[in-house]
Amino acid sequence: METVRSSVTKSIGILTSGGDCPGLNAAIRGVCRAAHDRYAMNILGIANGYRGLIDGDARFLKPEDFSGILTRGGTILGTSREKPFKKGANDDLEKNFTKDKVMAIKENYHKFKLDCLVVLGGNGTNTTGHLLRQEGLNVIGLPKTIDNDIQGTDLTFGFNSALSIGTDAIDRLHSTAQSHNRVMVIELMGHKTGWLTLYAGVAGGGDVILIPEIPYNIKVIGRHLIERARSGKTFSIVVVAEGALSRKEAGMDKKERKRYREETVTPSIAYRVAREIENETGMSTRATVLGYVQRGGIPSASDRVLATSFGTAAADLLARGEYGRMVTLIGNEISSVDLSVPADKTKLVPLSHYMLDTALAVGTCLGNSLPIN
Ligand code: F6P
Repeated sequence: METVRSSVTKSIGILTSGGDCPGLNAAIRGVCRAAHDRYAMNILGIANGYRGLIDGDARFLKPEDFSGILTRGGTILGTSREKPFKKGANDDLEKNFTKDKVMAIKENYHKFKLDCLVVLGGNGTNTTGHLLRQEGLNVIGLPKTIDNDIQGTDLTFGFNSALSIGTDAIDRLHSTAQSHNRVMVIELMGHKTGWLTLYAGVAGGGDVILIPEIPYNIKVIGRHLIERARSGKTFSIVVVAEGALSRKEAGMDKKERKRYREETVTPSIAYRVAREIENETGMSTRATVLGYVQRGGIPSASDRVLATSFGTAAADLLARGEYGRMVTLIGNEISSVDLSVPADKTKLVPLSHYMLDTALAVGTCLGNSLPIN
């Protein structure tokens, strides 16, 4: 057992917020083990994200609460998409709940005598953390999401596990595509970004990869698939991000695009792309939507390592009283940035990213030509 080190922070609250992902429990364990064993902090486990802090739904954790959870999927704390600062956030409050949500969070933070709040989540979670800090609370963020779209860190935990699941699904589609001489369209998550689709697409050898950052032209896709067929390839795999959009949509304003997507993205983008491919090429095409499977199950070894390292680094920041930071991975270094860095931003795949050129170099169609940089 390590000897206890001195710490500025005595008492923390920990919560997980937003969509779950593999690695959350590993991160909780990392924070709690280091905070408890190394720095002797008290740890309040808050249920269901910010909602638990609004309702005061929390309890102090004992070591057995964060033992044996390294490999477990999901989050032992529960999560929600509660956004206390969002316009209309108080509309769902019960009539007898007189204070607003932010006020309730502040009151409970003080009632539980917390020195800092540790929030594990994506863009929304870290943005809320940043806003709470402006309300006078101490906050430290950890970047979690299968989307890998958080500004300020090269990598988020959850991404690697989802990448393996996505790649495995693409691998499995190959054999059935080949048997039936079909075009198989598979849709992966990623919200408004293409990280997961690009990486899984390259890992799985996708013949076409469509990401939101490169609006697609169905004619370019059709030509590519027909050329493949002419060269003797009897099937093709198209990997599409849930947020992928056509060139036509990219030219629309936000309102018009929303209406257009409501009409055409039914039941989801993979089906629209499959219909468009059939119309364009006459090839037999099927759609698969992987959905929440991508967020389930045990974390990959790589995510366990990253989540644990992020967790223990958060405990070190707490011990030094370095609040208002989000833990990051830049290159091979675990570090941290000011919470204002991720707040209200989305990290897109830059058009200069080497993976795009990698994909092109192995003959993958990206649905459109890239602008020359
Ligand atoms: O952010 C993770 C994520 O799985 C995204 O990829 C997806 O767009 C979104 O969450 C789905 O959200 P929900 O769990 O609210 O349906």
